[in-house]
Amino acid sequence: MLAKAPFSTLNMAKSLNHLIVLCFLVVAPVCLSMKSQGGPLYPQFYGHSCPKVEEIVWSVVAKAVAKERRMAASLLRLHFHDCFVKGCDGGVLLDSSGTLVSEKRSNPNRNSARGFEVIDEIKAAVEKECPMTVSCADILAITARDATVLTGGPSWVVPLGRRDTLDASLSGSNYNIPAPNNTFQTILTKFKLKGLDLVDLVALSGSHTIGDARCTSFRQRLYNQSGNGQPDNTLNQAYASVLRTRCPQSGGDQTLFNLDYATPFKFDNSYYKNLLAYKGLLSSDQILVTKNQASMNLVKQYAENNALFFQHFAQSMVKMGNIAPLTGSRGEIRRVCRRVNP
Ligand code: HEM
Ligand SMILES: *[C@@H]1O[C@H](CO)[C@@H](O)[C@H](O)[C@H]1NC(C)=O
Ligand SMILES: *[C@@H]1O[C@H](CO)[C@@H](O)[C@H](O)[C@H]1NC(C)=O
Repeated sequence: MLAKAPFSTLNMAKSLNHLIVLCFLVVAPVCLSMKSQGGPLYPQFYGHSCPKVEEIVWSVVAKAVAKERRMAASLLRLHFHDCFVKGCDGGVLLDSSGTLVSEKRSNPNRNSARGFEVIDEIKAAVEKECPMTVSCADILAITARDATVLTGGPSWVVPLGRRDTLDASLSGSNYNIPAPNNTFQTILTKFKLKGLDLVDLVALSGSHTIGDARCTSFRQRLYNQSGNGQPDNTLNQAYASVLRTRCPQSGGDQTLFNLDYATPFKFDNSYYKNLLAYKGLLSSDQILVTKNQASMNLVKQYAENNALFFQHFAQSMVKMGNIAPLTGSRGEIRRVCRRVNP
């Protein structure tokens, strides 16, 4: 009698069959739960349900930026402040109401986050074209891309399909969004908690090539950086003197300063050139060259190579836009971005 060959073709076919059945048993629940949890984001998500959405968003953003150049920066920042708090879920847009406490009151957002009226206008225009279809979280993602392009930055294809949260998180906004006087390690840790790495940190900080910061966000550097009564010694002295004229030891907290003094309205790599000249406005900007060798090397590369900065920026924006989205049947499509549906 012949011993049964353990790996005969027949046996192989049989085990393959078992494998397939096993796969279905194992995978089916995953597939079913995918339906409610939702699959990945993808660019054509509104291809049939709202094919004009990107056209509509672009036209409102273009109009708003033409009216006020800074608005591009403010809109780009909103997507960041959305994504870092429980994921890109439109949470940052909610006003306080009932038991819901708005993130607009948090330390990073109070007297600072802006552009909400523009988002309202976009949402109203999109609702008119395709009611209850496009999320506020996706509008923020498209808007951030358009704001970048409108100021001369790179373009990218925006994956879509996010849904809107029913909840805001004031504590999450205070805790997860880095502060301008956080240490390099703290900021990197806050990025890593969101699945972002050092390249993402250095590339996305390049957003500070446009927009403004208030005196209160960097005053400490001008007068008493380490509690020794001395200014930050990693700040160019001539630049510091100029900053002190409009940002005194006390008063003028809300006075605005360009984050990129060289080309404040142009999305380019001059931000990195400023850092190499010790003319970064925020401590969180300057420490990208003073505290970590790998970070410093990236700053140098971006300062020398605008195309590389643009490429990394676009990649990192897609990555940031992918932080914990609500998909499938989770969350909702808000009618008005400022409040959850009644
Ligand atoms: C790396 C950690 C970061 C810190 C500590 C930080 C901090 C700040 C601070 C303090 C301001 C000025 C706020 C004010 O004084 O009103 C600001 C402005 C801004 N930030 Fe950041 N930021 C960081 C990363 C990012 C990222 C990742 C983005 C976008 C992807 C971004 C986009 C912006 C923009 C565009 C502005 C100007 C906003 C305006 O003019 O309205 N920032 N940031
Ligand atoms: C950072 O700034 C905040 C707000 O101005 C302040 O309360 C805190 O003491 C500062 N932290 C450090 C380490 O300087
Ligand atoms: C600088 O800050 C330290 C600690 O916060 C404080 O004790 C000191 O009085 C300050 N010095 C000046 C000159 O403001």
